[in-house]
Amino acid sequence: MAALQKCVNSSLTGTLASSCLLLLALWVQGGAAVPIGSHCRLDNSDFQQPYITNRTFMLAEEASLADNNTDVRLIGDKLFHGVNAGERCYLMKEVLNFTLEEVLLPQSHRFQPHMQEVVPFLAKLSNRLSQCHIESDDQHIQRNVQMLKDTVKKLGENGEIKAIGELNLLFIALKNACI
Ligand SMILES: *[C@@H]1O[C@H](CO)[C@@H](O)[C@H](O)[C@H]1NC(C)=O
Ligand SMILES: *[C@@H]1O[C@H](CO)[C@@H](O)[C@H](O)[C@H]1NC(C)=O
Ligand SMILES: *[C@@H]1O[C@H](CO)[C@@H](O)[C@H](O)[C@H]1NC(C)=O
Repeated sequence: MAALQKCVNSSLTGTLASSCLLLLALWVQGGAAVPIGSHCRLDNSDFQQPYITNRTFMLAEEASLADNNTDVRLIGDKLFHGVNAGERCYLMKEVLNFTLEEVLLPQSHRFQPHMQEVVPFLAKLSNRLSQCHIESDDQHIQRNVQMLKDTVKKLGENGEIKAIGELNLLFIALKNACI
């Protein structure tokens, strides 16, 4: 509180240091707790790189041509059901993690040369979200993610191809949820 008092005093003289601003912001929020979801953020600029965006969409297009199951959608309304806007980035972080580890890794030899360019890009985003957690109960989120995982597993290799075919949707959903 002494530090806060000093901030208040210096703010009266019009010289507010940026550390004071941060302290004040936390104080205004009612305590020194880090805001929920503060690490659940990506940069707008991550989604504005024409080259890698193009490669991500090309990879998705190529895989979706090989996907013969058109009645199943992985990244759609069902995935977000009951999940509020503030929790969606965390949800997408979980989907991205699964996609990297259990879809792209086993299929990494396929769909070259796009695959080898897109995987590091998505891994970088995943890494940026590594500290993204939510403090409330996340069972409803895990349930939705599990449904997606179960669908992919049930379809076997074709499920993996489908997930790659939806990388364009993953890209858009990450963008909408995390910036
Ligand atoms: C990606 O770029 C290529 C040219 O390099 C172009 O032919 C293609 O239509 C673009 N695809 C998308 C989805 O933007
Ligand atoms: C879809 O593709 C998978 C694997 O490529 C194949 O096993 C399956 O029989 C195909 N299903 C249909 C309905 O064509
Ligand atoms: C996926 O999540 C696990 C557990 O949190 C973590 O150890 C792993 O590094 C993550 N993988 C990727 C590719 O981000």
